[in-house]
Amino acid sequence: MRVLSGIQPSGKLHLGNYLGAIRQHIELQHEHPNDALYFIANYHSLTTVRDPELLRQLTRDVALDYLALGLDPTKAMLFRQSDIPEVTELAWILATVTGKGLLERAHSYKDKIARGIAPSMGLMSYPLLMAADILIYRSNLVPVGRDQVQHIEMTQDMAGYFNNTYKCDILVRPEPRLNNAHVVPGIDGQKMSKSYGNTIDLFDAPKPTRKRIMSIKTDSTSVEDPKNPESCNVFALLRLLASKDEITEWEQRYRAGGMGYGDAKKRVAELYEETFGQARDRREKLASDPDSVEDILVEGAKRARTIAREVMHDVRNACGLVIAPELHP
Ligand code: TYM
Repeated sequence: MRVLSGIQPSGKLHLGNYLGAIRQHIELQHEHPNDALYFIANYHSLTTVRDPELLRQLTRDVALDYLALGLDPTKAMLFRQSDIPEVTELAWILATVTGKGLLERAHSYKDKIARGIAPSMGLMSYPLLMAADILIYRSNLVPVGRDQVQHIEMTQDMAGYFNNTYKCDILVRPEPRLNNAHVVPGIDGQKMSKSYGNTIDLFDAPKPTRKRIMSIKTDSTSVEDPKNPESCNVFALLRLLASKDEITEWEQRYRAGGMGYGDAKKRVAELYEETFGQARDRREKLASDPDSVEDILVEGAKRARTIAREVMHDVRNACGLVIAPELHP
């Protein structure tokens, strides 16, 4: 069972990235040691980040974040997408068997256009590259948040288009994997997202983070009145960070009344610190040793590329693309 996922280095990682995706990635590396691949999707970020130094910085930051949060390079492969240039070749091959209509239906493309991002071909082709990322490793399981599910469904379609066109079964149909945090709300209650400006970032200093958490939007029910935990943005985070027993306790406190939202927010801030405090220290140490982090990324890429090359060998053969072996050792 091969597990694969990716994260764009297009800004600071936030609680939605962690709870929806990275937490699953870390768990799955233990369940599938040596068969979990996690990469930093820097080709994808070119659709939005146009400052080369910033892209390099954000790429390093995602590596540090992953390692600080518990990615174990002896179990999982961590690497930069750009160290596997074969994915761009596969994306092109997939483009030749995929109808334009499929890409036009992508929610994320429509959302981005609606937010005023220029409709480049890169933005439109984004799902082709994502499908290539997944299919080039014959991945079975793709742990993500809900916003990525449509892309994985498109990947399933594209694997089928290729296999049908070339009468083969080279590309493997992947399945998405969601956990209980498939849509983590931001401080305004919409999906937490960098582009909505509503994030709680993973490695900000404790003080501003606490301030951010205290600013989570709530309704105007007074302290003494009973409250509905199901519709509360603070409770949504409590539910994802606290233990089972504590969640039940808070649920009762909400329904009983006599509790202010401020109390629940303070607890979220504490839980945040309990969850990420140590990781913040680990991250600082890792940041002071960039060579070791680079070694981890190179080692991860070497292992991943071995798989990618084998699959591309089969793909090229299936469609009759010839490349000179002496030029591609
Ligand atoms: P990206 O970088 O936008 O997000 C990384 C991961 O975080 C999840 N996520 C969330 N989950 C729950 N609640 C939220 N509020 C929230 N915000 C983000 C995302 O669902 C994702 O799992 N296209 C991908 C990157 C990518 C990729 C891939 C992923 C490129 N190639 C191949 C999987 C497989 C993206 O932009 O994720």
